[in-house]
Amino acid sequence: MKVIVTGGAGFIGSHTVVELINNGYTPIIVDDFRNSKPFIINQIFKITGQKPKHYAIDCCNYKDFETVFKIEKPEGIIHFAAYKAVGESVNKPLKYYENNINSLVNVLKLMNEFDVNNLVFSSSCTVYGSAKVIPVTEKTPTQKAESPYGNTKQIGEDILHDYFKTSKNKNISILRYFNPIGAHPSGLIGELPIGTPNNLIPFITQTADGIRKSLTIFGNDYPTRDGSCIRDYIHVVDLAIAHIKAFEKQKNQTSELETYNVGTGKGTSVIEVVECFEKETKIKLNYSFGEKREGDVAEIYADNSKIISELEWEPKYSLQDALKDAWNWQKNLKNVK
Ligand code: WQD
Repeated sequence: MKVIVTGGAGFIGSHTVVELINNGYTPIIVDDFRNSKPFIINQIFKITGQKPKHYAIDCCNYKDFETVFKIEKPEGIIHFAAYKAVGESVNKPLKYYENNINSLVNVLKLMNEFDVNNLVFSSSCTVYGSAKVIPVTEKTPTQKAESPYGNTKQIGEDILHDYFKTSKNKNISILRYFNPIGAHPSGLIGELPIGTPNNLIPFITQTADGIRKSLTIFGNDYPTRDGSCIRDYIHVVDLAIAHIKAFEKQKNQTSELETYNVGTGKGTSVIEVVECFEKETKIKLNYSFGEKREGDVAEIYADNSKIISELEWEPKYSLQDALKDAWNWQKNLKNVK
């Protein structure tokens, strides 16, 4: 089954391309490398023995994107291509609305034009905003998003529901990611933050590697067990496999839209992540506590019972595995670029 993977050279995209190849799919990467690097495609080849075709085009450019569909005639699409940093989106809302919404609308228009009936959409737990009840299930009402990034995911899901109502025989799986972390155990692909990392784990590994002087923990007086924010940190390979499971289920459907929380079902605080990293790597991290970051919620983690039962998926890697793989990747980065 040929699958277009937008953002396929990115962090989650590249790990998903590896799992697609491992499961007999033919991924076609569509990525203009604005948030990734071309060498990742060679790394995928080193891991799988296959070098996926790729098109370095912008999904917001309808004409270019249409050409890819004309040539490839895919049967499925995974739409990753989007900006995803909570903090940055607060300062640059238009960058997020323009890119994240336009690219999704183009995906759906092209699905109609070329009769593509299977879509997996990369959504996020940020749609829950500051949930009143934790852990969140797929039925937990979405709150007003705490950031423009989260709002683009809420709007994206609304667009998919409205589109689904007007379309025939479309299968749409909305995957709400919690916090994707770690790297491929081979150490050949991983998170590639360009510039100052927005996310916690790359900031930790860059601090451990001496690239950053110290880590600032944003807030230590939240209403949580140790005052720091709680999140559901999921290994990126577990997350990648959830996409395969979504396609497998779609093969036995004609027209369904389903939403799944993709998380471990466990909450971990920032301080606990730091301590786990130190224990796993025997490296003392230099960190201090700073102001809360705008857009952050105190606590969120998944009730993942729906994806476990309906997609026969469950997380296999632990937080320790993910932090070990992230550190291994950070050390390898010097000689893979
Ligand atoms: C995690 C925690 C920060 C950096 C991410 C993605 C988003 C979505 C959900 C996929 C927070 C704290 C961070 C630092 C810190 N994933 N932190 N110091 O904001 O939960 O959202 O996962 O779609 O796209 O951005 O992740 O890693 O930025 O922050 O204390 O230097 O770490 O305050 O509590 P977040 P994050």
